[in-house]
Amino acid sequence: MGKKVKKESEPPPQDVFDPLPIQSQKVATVVLMLNSPEEEVLVKACEAIHNYAEKGDENRSSLLGLGAVEPLSLLISHEDKLVRRNAFMALGVMAANSDVKILLKKLDVIPSVIGKLSLEEDPVVLEFATLCLASLSMDFSCKVQIAEQEGLALLIQLLSSLDPDIKKNSLESIYNLVQDLPSRMALQRLNGVPPLLELLGSEFPVIQQLTLSTLATVTMDTDTRVTFREERGLEKLMDILCQKELSDLHAEVLQVMSNVLEDRESLQLIRDTGGLQTLLQFISTATLPGLQTHAVKAIAKLAQSSENHRLLHEQDTERSLVELLSVDSASVRTATCHAIAAMSLNLSSQDAFRHQDGIHAVVQLLGSEAGEVRQAAAQALASLTRRNPLNAHAVYEAEGVEALVQQLRDICPGTAAHAAAVLTNMAEQEVLRVSILSRGVMAALVEPLQSADTHTLVQATQALSALASQAEGRADLRNAGVLGPLVKLLRSNHKDVRRNACWATSVCANDELTVMEMCKLGALDVLQEINGSANRRNQFSERAFQSLLSFNLSLKYSLTNTLASTDITTDGFYDPGQARAGQSGLTLEDLSKQPVNQRRPVIAINAKPPETVSIQEPEESQQDSPTEALTASVLSAKAYISKGKGKGRKEDEKLRDEEESKPPLEVVDMDTEKQWMLPYDAAFHSLVTKATNTIGIIHEESEQYSALARLVSEAMGGPVEVDRQHDFLWELHLSELRYELQSNIIPIGRIRKGTYYHRALLYKVLADRIGVSCSLVRGEYNRAWNEVLLYIGMPCYPGCQPPPTAHLVDLLHQPGKLLRANTPQAIQYQTI
Ligand SMILES: *[C@@H]1O[C@H](CO)[C@@H](O)[C@H](O)[C@H]1NC(C)=O
Ligand SMILES: *[C@@H]1O[C@H](CO)[C@@H](O)[C@H](O)[C@H]1NC(C)=O
Ligand SMILES: *[C@@H]1O[C@H](CO)[C@@H](O)[C@H](O)[C@H]1NC(C)=O
Ligand SMILES: *[C@@H]1O[C@H](CO)[C@@H](O)[C@H](O)[C@H]1NC(C)=O
Repeated sequence: MGKKVKKESEPPPQDVFDPLPIQSQKVATVVLMLNSPEEEVLVKACEAIHNYAEKGDENRSSLLGLGAVEPLSLLISHEDKLVRRNAFMALGVMAANSDVKILLKKLDVIPSVIGKLSLEEDPVVLEFATLCLASLSMDFSCKVQIAEQEGLALLIQLLSSLDPDIKKNSLESIYNLVQDLPSRMALQRLNGVPPLLELLGSEFPVIQQLTLSTLATVTMDTDTRVTFREERGLEKLMDILCQKELSDLHAEVLQVMSNVLEDRESLQLIRDTGGLQTLLQFISTATLPGLQTHAVKAIAKLAQSSENHRLLHEQDTERSLVELLSVDSASVRTATCHAIAAMSLNLSSQDAFRHQDGIHAVVQLLGSEAGEVRQAAAQALASLTRRNPLNAHAVYEAEGVEALVQQLRDICPGTAAHAAAVLTNMAEQEVLRVSILSRGVMAALVEPLQSADTHTLVQATQALSALASQAEGRADLRNAGVLGPLVKLLRSNHKDVRRNACWATSVCANDELTVMEMCKLGALDVLQEINGSANRRNQFSERAFQSLLSFNLSLKYSLTNTLASTDITTDGFYDPGQARAGQSGLTLEDLSKQPVNQRRPVIAINAKPPETVSIQEPEESQQDSPTEALTASVLSAKAYISKGKGKGRKEDEKLRDEEESKPPLEVVDMDTEKQWMLPYDAAFHSLVTKATNTIGIIHEESEQYSALARLVSEAMGGPVEVDRQHDFLWELHLSELRYELQSNIIPIGRIRKGTYYHRALLYKVLADRIGVSCSLVRGEYNRAWNEVLLYIGMPCYPGCQPPPTAHLVDLLHQPGKLLRANTPQAIQYQTI
């Protein structure tokens, strides 16, 4: 505690007594004297102890050891005024010792001390009672006790005491108390702000400093800021800022100001009173880094109001800020970057910073040794380049790309996120994107994509989407190892992270190799899981799921039962039937290796002639006894049919579905050496040729649809009357085919008797090859159909074509008939 100038001129109150000299060897005696019944002795002993304790902390410790504290704690309540006064002097000084504090707490001295705090009390008692509280209030539990004993209200009263020591000690106690939130709020309730503002004008610098520190704490409270404003606190602060001779207070003033500027009203007030100019002037003239830092922090707050922003912009604040970037102080640079980020929320400022060469200056700071400067610089650039292509380009011209890519690996928290945001903004321009990609950005993204911080994840996934949107970006995706972390993020529980990861996945899912890699990493499984959850599914996850599936139409048809007219099948497509829960997608090769079984056969499409494909027929040795198995299968197929006769169709079909839902058989690993190839389907090939030659040449669309339907029906057993379906033994036919081929995979061209789903499949794959547009939809119980769009009706006026209507193509009963969707006829075709 600094002694103050004024105090020394005061006459020592003890001068009416002959001082009692104490030599060190007599200290014990003096302590004993504290127990004397004689008031005169007590007075002198207390005084002597005060003098001795004032000399230093060691002396206070030895007094404590000699047992001086206990009697003193009682003497402060002595009935004699002089004894009381001198005891307080001694105790007040003693309380600075930490062991004494502990003992005083134990002796529960606080109530007696607080009991003396009234303006009517002897000023000396008040001075030392408050000195005692100033020491004790540094301790947490004492702080609470003082507050509970209404000490704060009494201390606030004492701020208006005429004695500067009482003021100072009370202020110091208050400062300690308001470090706790309840006292901070109590101070506002007790109207403590006006007396504090009063003290700003004190002639003692130490009181002014303490007042500002207290204000810096209490103005964190919103209500207190209102009072502060109403009591013209801002004006008082500005007043101090304008006085050069008070420069040692300016840092604290600016700190209080930063707090107060949280409020819109203060922002307006400072503008209306011309305070803004003062502040700005301050930035350009202040020379101490501490002051500049606080001033710039205040500016950053000011920039948040658009009216103030306008003023700041008019005052050319951007130029001052750019100049401050060259100050060689990490804290000034950090604060300035934050202010630039705040001002750059406005386009005019973004442009002004570019014109002042500010972007170049900020880019330079990306290489700073101080982590917080690098982070702030990246943040400023993220703000500067937001929706501002010219600024993004300026970052590139200032050669910022390399440093930004490096910053993706920066250990300083937040830096990677800001750097990723800048790179996202830059990636919109092709030249910049190419430059960024050439610096190995994909590999650098691996780390932030594994960050524990969600903000970093959000920004990193966004950068990935922006950079992978073109072919040149996707090229090194796989090599860089980005896909693993990305697929993991699809599982994130954080909504934004998951959404961005889905978005990045659909952007990356643009070529087969990348998609295969992502599928290998389990992307499809996650997306399927997400799609099954109403909470987690959204347009981004659906889009990602669709993107991946569009590279694997076999899987898409199996999982979603639908192929759109834009999903064009090719050789190698196969229909393994509807996917069932928990059944992982087996490859065609896996399926080919399964022993012949009772499940629904897999239907495969391949018109590639043997010249280009080395055919490997399924191995004969698969079955121990093929003939036996064939017989069994035919018998079982017949059993189905006879069972079905006694019951409704539905039950018959259900029965088969149950059979099919049994777990798949073990995969028999036959021969892993040779590469398995799908057998050539010559019959299908000739159907393609026939379709191309006969249907491809038809001009009228509806006629094309019908002709193709007749071709398909002809290939698969011709028309079947609705009530004669039981005589159409397609299941037996397929069973026989299966054993003839010794495989569960049946090439579509071999099927001579097919029902709804075989015919719809053949229709779709032929249509895809001859450029006829149609979809394929699987229903329940072996139903499947194709939907085509027909333009019917006359244009209402030239150029206005009525929208096309969807039709189903009848392939079974009246092949070639087009059934308008949702009519009873169409519904009958789709359902049993
Ligand atoms: C303790 O007080 C004595 C007597 O006034 C003084 O001579 C001595 O320097 C003090 N010791 C310390 C360590 O302050
Ligand atoms: C940006 O600042 C300029 C100049 O102060 C102002 O005219 C403009 O309205 C501001 N724009 C926005 C979006 O606040
Ligand atoms: C995703 O779920 C929705 C709602 O259940 C479903 O309509 C959609 O077909 C599913 N998408 C895929 C690709 O499975
Ligand atoms: C399609 O999905 C199946 C099942 O997951 C998989 O075996 C096959 O390799 C995939 N095909 C492609 C081209 O990704």
